[in-house]
Amino acid sequence: MFSSRMEGFFILLLLLFGSAYFQDLYRNANRNQDYSTGTHYLLHPIHSVVQSTRGANVTLPCIMRRRPRSYRVKWSKVNPEDPLENLIIISNGQYHRNYDKLRGRVRMRRSHRLDASLIITNVALEDEGRYKCELVNGLEDQSLTLSLQLEGVVFPYQAKEGRYHFNYIEAYHVCEEQDGRLATYSQLYQAWTDGLDWCNAGWLLEGSVHYPIIVTREPCGGNLPPGIRSYGPKDKLKDRYDAFCFTSALKGNVFLVHGPMNFREASAACRARKAEMAKVGHLYAAWRFLGLDHCDGGWLSDGSVRFPITDPRERCGGLPDPGVRSFGFPNEEERLYGVYCYATT
Ligand SMILES: *[C@@H]1O[C@H](CO)[C@@H](O)[C@H](O)[C@H]1NC(C)=O
Repeated sequence: MFSSRMEGFFILLLLLFGSAYFQDLYRNANRNQDYSTGTHYLLHPIHSVVQSTRGANVTLPCIMRRRPRSYRVKWSKVNPEDPLENLIIISNGQYHRNYDKLRGRVRMRRSHRLDASLIITNVALEDEGRYKCELVNGLEDQSLTLSLQLEGVVFPYQAKEGRYHFNYIEAYHVCEEQDGRLATYSQLYQAWTDGLDWCNAGWLLEGSVHYPIIVTREPCGGNLPPGIRSYGPKDKLKDRYDAFCFTSALKGNVFLVHGPMNFREASAACRARKAEMAKVGHLYAAWRFLGLDHCDGGWLSDGSVRFPITDPRERCGGLPDPGVRSFGFPNEEERLYGVYCYATT
């Protein structure tokens, strides 16, 4: 009787102290977990990739779980090739300063007191990439990163002078001249999954040289399975290839003026309509985003003649897939074609 009462007493003691001890352990574990995962103050987003298009306004979400007493939020662009931090905006909750590349096009959203999201207006091609939202409160800095991806189209570009004419610097500029930007590897990969099959190697933004193959054939890497063929890194000044350019949504409109005209007459025809001759990037963007479809070859500003097909048919280039078809660079005196004009409405 006595012993069993003592036993009960000890068990009670054990339960009381034990539970306090374990509660403590549990609290410590939780606190440690909060600090170690770095999510003490910042809520991790469900989606780490945000999609947008050129010209749109986009929000990169960064939400606090709770507000530290004093803090700053720092947004920067993460560039793997550039070790320097690309600051975009800093805020201490009261005022903010704008930095560099996105000057005038960014602001912090303040929809509620825990909101530190970044708004980018009029998204540009070079805005694509990784962004870091960093909460600095003196003790432990916490950050999260998000990727901004633009919806768009990749187009191979070959010089008038022929195949494999551009070094990296020239390829970079030629894409800009055609209203695009050198494509990234991930943009080329996306284009390949969408059906891009091209047997000429071209520069990418990262400085490597590749070509995308869907239908395996002898001159294009032989019996290798379909995929992105790689030439690896190349000398940016000495090595010469074509270019893969990327463009996104169009700000204006592209329209066809029927011919026949030579190159000079084509240029005048656009000017007479308060427009300019379309660049190659304009035509691809109009094809991809506006569904432009014409069976007529038309001059473009670089001297090439092309036409956009969204609804493939036998008498319009015949090929099974939609695409922008090319007649190359005809003699500028040839009076056989119409012209594609571009107008910023
Ligand atoms: C983007 O935001 C700006 C200013 O906040 C506004 O003037 C503009 O119309 C917006 N653009 C689009 C495409 O919604």
